[in-house]
Amino acid sequence: MAIAEDLEVASFLRGGPKKLFIGGKWVDSSTGKTFDSIDPATGEVLAKVAEASGEDVDRAVAAARKSFDRGTWRDLPPAERAKVLWKVGDMIEERALEFAQLETLDNGMPINDALLFHAPLAAATFRYYAGWVTKLDGATQQISLPGKYLSYTLREPVGVVGQIIPWNFPLLMAAWKLAPALACGNSVVLKPSEETPLSALRLAELLQDADIPEGVVNVVPGFGEVAGARLAAHPDVDKIAFTGSTEVGKIITRASADSNLKRVSLELGGKSPNIIFGDADLAKSVSGAFFGIFFNQGQVCSAGSRLFVQERIYDHTLDELLKTVADTRVGPGIDPVNQMGPLVSKTQMDRVLGYIRTGNQEGARLLAGGERPDGLDHGYFIKPTVFADVDAKMRIAREEIFGPVVAAIPFSDEEDLVAKANSTIYGLVAGVWTNDVARAHRVAHALKAGTVYVNCYHIVDAVTPWGGYKQSGWGRELGPYALDLYTEVKNVIVDIA
Ligand code: NAI
Ligand code: MG
Repeated sequence: MAIAEDLEVASFLRGGPKKLFIGGKWVDSSTGKTFDSIDPATGEVLAKVAEASGEDVDRAVAAARKSFDRGTWRDLPPAERAKVLWKVGDMIEERALEFAQLETLDNGMPINDALLFHAPLAAATFRYYAGWVTKLDGATQQISLPGKYLSYTLREPVGVVGQIIPWNFPLLMAAWKLAPALACGNSVVLKPSEETPLSALRLAELLQDADIPEGVVNVVPGFGEVAGARLAAHPDVDKIAFTGSTEVGKIITRASADSNLKRVSLELGGKSPNIIFGDADLAKSVSGAFFGIFFNQGQVCSAGSRLFVQERIYDHTLDELLKTVADTRVGPGIDPVNQMGPLVSKTQMDRVLGYIRTGNQEGARLLAGGERPDGLDHGYFIKPTVFADVDAKMRIAREEIFGPVVAAIPFSDEEDLVAKANSTIYGLVAGVWTNDVARAHRVAHALKAGTVYVNCYHIVDAVTPWGGYKQSGWGRELGPYALDLYTEVKNVIVDIA
């Protein structure tokens, strides 16, 4: 496709297929194969990308192993490593517009979201973990041990880490994975999604410019069943960090069990309740309901896809939500006037349209959307969609749709609400809208979710933990918690008698 030459990202997109980044070198796939990365706003090819084979993944793991065993990164003085990670944050910030354009063209997201949210958060994640490099201390125990023993702990890097990331926030997910892993001294093989491989490749160029030693970060775009599966089953990978569907999370866990029992952390799906009580601030809660589900076209693991509204304000709240929905501009994300872009791919659009058909068949009441907008036939757009009177047994109330579709469900009182909200296989986040302080905390404590937002939604920062209960995953990313994912604790006990 023709890329407007005045875009910051034009030079990156020019030229031949993008290559794999292995052992500090840009290389072709061992098979010579490439795949197309598509602009979902137009359906046109944005770039061709080398497709990593199993053999390429093996080469990347070997390069990571070599760099780890030689200690080229983990044995650098911590302050030196911190400096490099801080520099990466600065470089992302300097190139925020370029990254934003790349995210928008590859994934479809509105450019303002990419520019004001994703790129700055990615930069902030590298800076936050730069701060931890010099603070990865162990502990000592002497007094509490029987006899004359000194026990102290060391935090060591896990080793070679495989990271498999999805397409919904390509740059940010790469940052969430790479920054803590590198802060802890690991070597990494990163497999971006086949839908959105480009920003991770651009990020790898920055890492190279920031002088991260060769082999410490390897980036191997390719397909899940080939490159992802090879990484998950690899006998020389010490840990896998995965973000994506619950279904693939289970496949990865099995691959670990069937190979070397590598450590696994998982950030999976959700069906998050966004809950509005009768005493909530109407305007704030309606805009929170809207943002909760339609941000990033609903392609967010923590999307507030089940909207619980207390009976006495149910009709009025939905009327207000419909007004906001009616005013929403849907169109190519690269045009800053548009508030919602396309879904990431035709497959995803078809999946979401399938759920909308199911909702109609199951007898939910369609209040808005439910179809593709007129005049945007080449892209994968779907109008913001609101279903009301959704029953907990309906598939649209139980399954992750991962699109701009909200299921509104009435509730009577707190007890009714908590039972309904927790009746899901997922437990990633929840939102609670109320002006009653005691109720806010009571409900927050009763909900089974890794994050509970009170009178806000989708507030994400590098410093706060991220992860889920139940089938939303294992472990917590971000904040100090991610350091546990990427380190082994070694206990040394010395007889000092
Ligand atoms: P997916 O789970 O298949 O893809 C995520 C990543 O896993 C990609 O990098 C993919 O290449 C890789 N992968 C796929 N199969 C693999 C395998 N067998 N072994 C190793 N890696 C593998 O997600 P997909 O198919 O793109 O989307 C389907 C649904 O998954 C969405 O509709 C949504 O419900 C959910 N999803 C959830 C995400 C989240 O952030 N929690 C992100 C992406 C998808
Ligand atoms: Mg794409």
